[in-house]
Amino acid sequence: MSRSAKEWSSPQNALAYLNVADDLPHRSEGESVLIDHLSENTRRVLDLGTGDGRLIRLIKANRPYIEAVALDVSPTMLKSARDHFAGDSKVSIVKHDLSQPLPDLGYFDAVVSSFAIHHLKHERKHDLYEEIYDIINPTGVFCNLEHVASPSVELHVRFLKAIGYTPEKEDRANRLLPMEIQLSWLRDIGFVEVDCYWKWLEMALLIGYKA
Ligand SMILES: C[S@@+](CC[C@H](N)C(=O)[O-])C[C@H]1O[C@@H](n2cnc3c(N)ncnc32)[C@H](O)[C@@H]1O
Repeated sequence: MSRSAKEWSSPQNALAYLNVADDLPHRSEGESVLIDHLSENTRRVLDLGTGDGRLIRLIKANRPYIEAVALDVSPTMLKSARDHFAGDSKVSIVKHDLSQPLPDLGYFDAVVSSFAIHHLKHERKHDLYEEIYDIINPTGVFCNLEHVASPSVELHVRFLKAIGYTPEKEDRANRLLPMEIQLSWLRDIGFVEVDCYWKWLEMALLIGYKA
């Protein structure tokens, strides 16, 4: 089991995050920009590291007809997602450790993720971006609302302070990588219109289109 899978499989860690998830400053701005960039033709969505399914719930608030796959490794998160989507046959819940290649889930109009991929090793992030490219439909999009690295220790500490954390309290599973590196990876893989579409300190929305 990967380090991040182990950390997040602890019910304590998962519940600690869920308890403060709504308090993360500015996250709703990033989420709303993400949702703005899902085209009206979006029918099938994959959410990587879905947690309790927060992003899918936000997307489905305006588009209840969407079919979604909610993927995570943490039993606590998966249970919470199952509870949230009980009775919604259009949402499937999948247990998977993202440190391993994606299982066969079919093709998607949008692959989304929020604050999850930064837990993976850098090489795995890159390979995952390639796998994502391969499963996006020709006019689809990848939207990653992500925790990225600060350019300096001072800015990192400023970010932690702004979200009510200290370096001691920081998530030990974090493996932060500068946004610019990830944008250039996405371009090299073949995504187009790649950019940071929204950012506040270490929270950045990276988007790339298949075509
Ligand atoms: C900070 S939470 C974000 C949850 C949700 N996306 C949200 O925005 O509220 C990070 C999520 O990534 C998941 N995660 C961490 N490492 C993972 C891994 N190796 N494979 C699959 N999911 C992982 C955790 O279980 C957790 O649900």
